[in-house]
Amino acid sequence: MSDAELLKREAGIAACKYVKNGMIIGLGTGSTVKHTIIEIGRMMDEEGLEITGVPTSESTRVLAESLNIPLIEISQVESLDLTIDGADEFDMDFSLIKGGGGALTREKIVANLSKSMIVVADYSKRVDILGSFKLPIEADPLQSDSVIEEINGFCPGEVKIRASGQKGTLENEPFITDNGGYIIDCEFGPSITNPADLEKTISKIKGVIEVGLFIGICDAVVLSSSSGVEILVNPNGRLN
Ligand code: 5RP
Repeated sequence: MSDAELLKREAGIAACKYVKNGMIIGLGTGSTVKHTIIEIGRMMDEEGLEITGVPTSESTRVLAESLNIPLIEISQVESLDLTIDGADEFDMDFSLIKGGGGALTREKIVANLSKSMIVVADYSKRVDILGSFKLPIEADPLQSDSVIEEINGFCPGEVKIRASGQKGTLENEPFITDNGGYIIDCEFGPSITNPADLEKTISKIKGVIEVGLFIGICDAVVLSSSSGVEILVNPNGRLN
């Protein structure tokens, strides 16, 4: 395992201390939370832990099913005890950019239904100002051109439909989300000083399904670095 992968694994596993018997847990998407899900599977198998998971993507569903984690659909729950998920960036206010894996819409629905949300991340995700990572926006394919046009009006960098990049697809064939949407990646640069305002502005654009800014949702970050794992608790969050 590479050093980067080891850091992801450390953060992913450390977050499991928040997992308790009987919980309904939102299972995030990505290469860091994958380790949380694998550890939950191990705890169920070896320690008798019982939880029910709500997957935030089809890839997470496949992983959880392979570990025999019982699952229910988002539509079957009114509330979850906890969501654990990764992030592409987080700032000092615990605001996040998410959607690198294209699962932002389900991730936000599940996180918003949860009593608390914990992010698992390595130190590379910590930033002073959000925006170095291109902000992902899910959009209706039929309206993506007009969404791009509007965002181009205020985004300083490139605004582009994400390509699939998958083998067997044509070059530049769009990436399609689990919901049948496109992802539009917006190059703001580290300029997102008011993420709440930006989220509101983009959400109002016709054809936008969801914005990859998560504001006031994250309660703690389980952060790994070469000096170990640190838990940053949001002073304004629900774990405080
Ligand atoms: C998927 C996400 C992921 O949580 C985010 O991209 C972080 O992934 P990773 O842990 O692989 O860096 O938002 O939509």
